Amino acid sequence: MSHGPRSGLAAVSSALLAMSRHLEVRDVLKTIVASARELLDAQYAALGVPDDHGGFAQFVVDGVSDAQWKAIGPLPRRHGILAAMLDDAAPQRLADVRRDPRFEGWPSAHPDLVDFLGLPIRDGDEVLGALFLANKNCPKPDGACGFTEDDEELLGILAQHAAIALTNARLYERSRELTIAEERSRLAHELHDAVSQKLFSLRLTAQAAARLVDRDPARAKGELQQVAELAAEAADELRAAVVELRPAALDEDGLVATLRTQVQVLDRAHSARVTFTGHGVRALPAAQEEAVLRVAQEALHNALRHSGGTHVDVTLERRGNGAVLRVGDDGGGFDPHTVRRAGRHLGLVSMRDRASGVGGRLTVESAPGKGTTIEMEVPGG
Ligand SMILES: Nc1ncnc2c1ncn2[C@@H]1O[C@H](COP(=O)(O)OP(=O)(O)OP(=O)(O)O)[C@@H](O)[C@H]1O
Ligand SMILES: [Mg+2]
Repeated sequence: MSHGPRSGLAAVSSALLAMSRHLEVRDVLKTIVASARELLDAQYAALGVPDDHGGFAQFVVDGVSDAQWKAIGPLPRRHGILAAMLDDAAPQRLADVRRDPRFEGWPSAHPDLVDFLGLPIRDGDEVLGALFLANKNCPKPDGACGFTEDDEELLGILAQHAAIALTNARLYERSRELTIAEERSRLAHELHDAVSQKLFSLRLTAQAAARLVDRDPARAKGELQQVAELAAEAADELRAAVVELRPAALDEDGLVATLRTQVQVLDRAHSARVTFTGHGVRALPAAQEEAVLRVAQEALHNALRHSGGTHVDVTLERRGNGAVLRVGDDGGGFDPHTVRRAGRHLGLVSMRDRASGVGGRLTVESAPGKGTTIEMEVPGG
């Protein structure tokens, strides 16, 4: 290096600090490349993060203008000396890269690289990428300077810190993706449990109204009234799901009254007899009430849609500080073990998640030919 030892150390230190200041992977990569080029006084620097298909997921350069970069064309493949750094994880220090037997040429707009220093960026056994420099600036024109052993050592230190910065940035991006995925899954469950159930009842009520219109206009009018109410409720549920509110009815009327009303609505909308019984249940913590309501909605929905039964009974009773919800039907039943977790069936998964999310427990008792009973216990406050 051309700096004295003290200023050299300061330069390294500020480069390392700059790397860890960024959270986005791309910014980290850019800082690493720019620092490496400056510290080792080279004309060009680059960093490539390989993908799984023989190419690069990311490739960042420093010392090349945008116009030049565009003219060079597509990103390099993993071949020749790049492949040696990535696949064998071996450092490469070459006086003239063009004379190396592995050199396979470059596109016409590519700058002419002569002396070359490249190192893998490793995290344990995993090679995260390759960091490399070319054309060390020589104090005397045309002098044969090239990269030294000291340069290689310094680049090694940079590469180690680059590995840490890169791993951190990846973790950060991953955690952000997870937050988004969790939010999507919450919304999907909410829409599934509350909104689609309301729409299902709405459709049935509208069909009933259509059948009654000629024969019994007065009753058709009543059904249409019901359609309007269900549509309003669906709109409320939708809004609540989007802004993460709990259903308004729970705050206004409490769990027991809310369940009773919903059961009455379903009883009217479907041909099966739907009943509700509540026994001495005290108010539960808000999250538990909401979970019980959602599970009841989905269990009712499943019973009415899949069971083919003539009776669906909902009971809610006190147990200790908490409560037990039971939704039973006298329909055809099913084998819970054959329902796969993944795929289109969200209901059973969602019910289990909601129960465990509030420290509760959910059991599904069903067998082909016998009805189904869903039981959920929540601990209370
Ligand atoms: N009460 C029930 N009676 C008979 N079969 C049921 C009952 N509840 C669930 N099933 C069966 O279990 C399957 C899975 O139910 P689940 O609620 O997970 O998904 P789904 O109702 O098919 O779809 P989604 O709830 O995502 O709209 C159903 O497709 C049905 O075959
Ligand atoms: Mg379902």
